[in-house]
Amino acid sequence: MNEKITIAVVGSGYVGLVAAVCFAEIGHQVICVDNDESKIAALMNGQVPIYEECLPELLARHRNTLIEFTTDLHDATRRSQAIFVAVGTPQSQTGSADLSYVDAVASQIARSITEYKIIVEKSTVPVYTNEWISRVIERNGVPRELFDVASNPEFLREGTAVVDFLHPDRIVIGVDNDRAGKLLRAIYEPLTSGRYYQAVDAVPGARSASEAPPLLQTSTKAAELIKHASNAFLAMKISFINVVSNLCEAAGADVEEVSRGIGSDERIGPKFLKAGIGYGGSCFPKDVAAFRYVAEQLGVDFGLLREVENINAEQKRRFFLKVRSALWTFRGKKLGVLGLAFKGGTDDIRESPAIDLISQFLKEGAIVSAYDPAAMERTKQILPPSGTLSYAKDAYEAASDADALLILTDWQEFAELDLDRLHYTLRYPIIVDGRNLFDRTAMAQRGFTYLSVGRPGGTPQKDAALSHKLP
Ligand code: UGA
Repeated sequence: MNEKITIAVVGSGYVGLVAAVCFAEIGHQVICVDNDESKIAALMNGQVPIYEECLPELLARHRNTLIEFTTDLHDATRRSQAIFVAVGTPQSQTGSADLSYVDAVASQIARSITEYKIIVEKSTVPVYTNEWISRVIERNGVPRELFDVASNPEFLREGTAVVDFLHPDRIVIGVDNDRAGKLLRAIYEPLTSGRYYQAVDAVPGARSASEAPPLLQTSTKAAELIKHASNAFLAMKISFINVVSNLCEAAGADVEEVSRGIGSDERIGPKFLKAGIGYGGSCFPKDVAAFRYVAEQLGVDFGLLREVENINAEQKRRFFLKVRSALWTFRGKKLGVLGLAFKGGTDDIRESPAIDLISQFLKEGAIVSAYDPAAMERTKQILPPSGTLSYAKDAYEAASDADALLILTDWQEFAELDLDRLHYTLRYPIIVDGRNLFDRTAMAQRGFTYLSVGRPGGTPQKDAALSHKLP
């Protein structure tokens, strides 16, 4: 089989844009739609609005051939066999997902349907959304035999989204009849058959022709639940290890060793057991709240998720206190801050623990000099430079003359910093590391007071402290 399918992707955010470009990469004809005219104009000019590995290269490869950009949803619907909806589902005040964008897009699509289409939810939505979409489309006068609604959740992570899409652990398609199943299976056939991986210019990753990803076909409701449950489970794993890290601090053990020990059990697995300052981003905080709300609506007590959220908030507070314990007071102290993004490898600052913490430090009277390899422009929009907040050109400038250096994001380049240079750049060689990027014994040997998460505190070795102060 080698079927080229015309696909519309509605929404050009992190999920929509990556999906659109990757569908083109596996050989389909793609129309990417967004109602934001300036975004579409930028994309038409080849500009990529988000920081995402491989995305610029793939966009350049397929722009004007397999992928086009438009604001015209009517035309895109008319010309496509499948319409993937990847618009935002922000958190409403109750914690539930706000589905008004999905609702609006469903009505607009309905008005353009004159022959069979499949509408596919790609946004993270609560169970039963597919039924609502069907209802909206029918209300707009579209006969039931002219459309199907399916769910095809995305499990990609920001920063590695392209590789995650093209080399997935699994592909989940939620359909309620085989007409929809057949079309979705055809869309993913280049991946599931292994054919894509044979191309000389295929994006490399974990999958290969002999190890193609499995496709799980489920009901639409199961697929909707799989997405929420996956994110909630991962968030739970992080909160779990964060509490264990607090136990380690109290007991004098090293959480990295404990994580290795737990994660070596195949039933648990080593991933997402990295203790830190809590999870952030546009997905986990929103999805845990939304899943809790879904459970509540269905009469199921999922108090565990409330605890996951509480632990996450507490983890940030503990870090704040740790910094205070290192400095005594904040007023007038200069803090070098490394990291603004919610994790390394992205410019996304949504729900970033770093942003919350910086706001608190500023409120307490600290002077902050911050640096992030990708997220400074976005941060300046919500935390503009001021008398007490500045943005540095690199990590050393942020550390310059600071009373302490804080690490808030796990960028690889921070782990590779020249520690001797940092040592004589700082006013006091104190590092409070919220991401456990360094070996604590090595840090003590180099003369740092090094505080991290879930590991015994490191006090500098006297001779090292003196020798590294010398330029
Ligand atoms: C997450 C999921 O990992 C994806 O599978 C999912 O598709 C996506 O949400 C989504 O629903 O769109 P993402 O938000 O990009 O992806 O980021 P993650 O890599 O999962 O990290 C989330 C947060 O958890 C970050 O703040 C990260 O620093 C933190 N984290 C992660 C930890 O504190 N410890 C860990 O061991 C792992």
